[in-house]
Amino acid sequence: MKEYEYKVSAAGRINLIGEHIDYCGGKVMPVALSLKNTVYIRPNGTNKINLSWTTLPDKVTLDIDKLESYKGLKYGNYQAGAALMWQRAGHKVIGCDMLHDCTVPFGSGLSSSAAIEVSTIAALATLAGEPLDKVDIALKAQQAEREYTGVNCGIMDQYASACGKKDSVMLLDCNTLECEYLPLLLGDYSLVITNCNKPHSLIESKYNERREETERALKMLQQHLDIKCLAELNLADFKKYGAELTGILRKRLEHIVNECERVCLATQALKAGNVQILGELLNKSHASLRDNYEVTGREPDALVEAAQTQSCCIGSRLIGGGFGGCTISLVKTKCIDEFKEFTFNSYLKATGYRAEFYDTEISDGIIITKL
Ligand code: GLA
Repeated sequence: MKEYEYKVSAAGRINLIGEHIDYCGGKVMPVALSLKNTVYIRPNGTNKINLSWTTLPDKVTLDIDKLESYKGLKYGNYQAGAALMWQRAGHKVIGCDMLHDCTVPFGSGLSSSAAIEVSTIAALATLAGEPLDKVDIALKAQQAEREYTGVNCGIMDQYASACGKKDSVMLLDCNTLECEYLPLLLGDYSLVITNCNKPHSLIESKYNERREETERALKMLQQHLDIKCLAELNLADFKKYGAELTGILRKRLEHIVNECERVCLATQALKAGNVQILGELLNKSHASLRDNYEVTGREPDALVEAAQTQSCCIGSRLIGGGFGGCTISLVKTKCIDEFKEFTFNSYLKATGYRAEFYDTEISDGIIITKL
């Protein structure tokens, strides 16, 4: 059988800061990782997409004319959704064999789903000889996540997965999709990614619930203010009009307004090389995700606490959608081994779960190689 023609990968991501504000039009600071989903692809002359995986025994065949009918698949639904949205946008989807090799751990909060969706579309476009528009691919991948898998997500993950750049953190304005790339210079410190390894459920429904809450808050504020998204609300107007919101909505809004502000401060700190301030902002972000946005949980909180108690760690927080998954910690590079050991042991003692650490680099988003 003919060898694969292309190798197309898209990245997993972390987010330095700016959590749960992408769908409010805020600025976020994701970083694309060398943990990736890679698709090996070749045409097969049929109207089918044959899927296989390096890490799973499953084999799945998708009929190109019935792509809408695979929502219930355990594996292959992300690929089907991505191909369907690409097809609906008027692109030709060619019958092909796709071997998927995913090094982004599933369910880790490092956006394995975005990496699968983005790499699937990029591979289909490459096979069809189309010029690649990475932003457009990200938007179609986001549409797949929202309409096919039912997570009403923002654009951060798919954008980072497609458009990330080696050694850079993105400053992505989710309102305009303008993106500035900044070097991630952390001096004597490094970012440590840790998975709390708690199996999490209900993520989708809770995530969608949070999003609805922000939409309700926006509608109420729009009675007084001419704003299109919550990220446009400044601190002064928040003080003036935020008082009209009570209970949960007020807490959610408090997170959003302050998290937007923290992204501005983090950008300044990064540009000035002030890693200490960046660390403090990570800690504040976590506290707000825990107390105001309520998307953390016992295990992620215990993991962050284990990190924050160590003097070699100047900041730690949960990243991504929440309720489980990974934390990032800013740790003195020469102390990383001790940090990992202490964190592992105290987290195990507190929760009974075994934390896992990932060694990864900052990488480009979509990468295409002709084989
Ligand atoms: C998930 C979503 C993103 C974003 C984050 C929270 O990863 O896919 O769009 O909302 O949660 O910041």
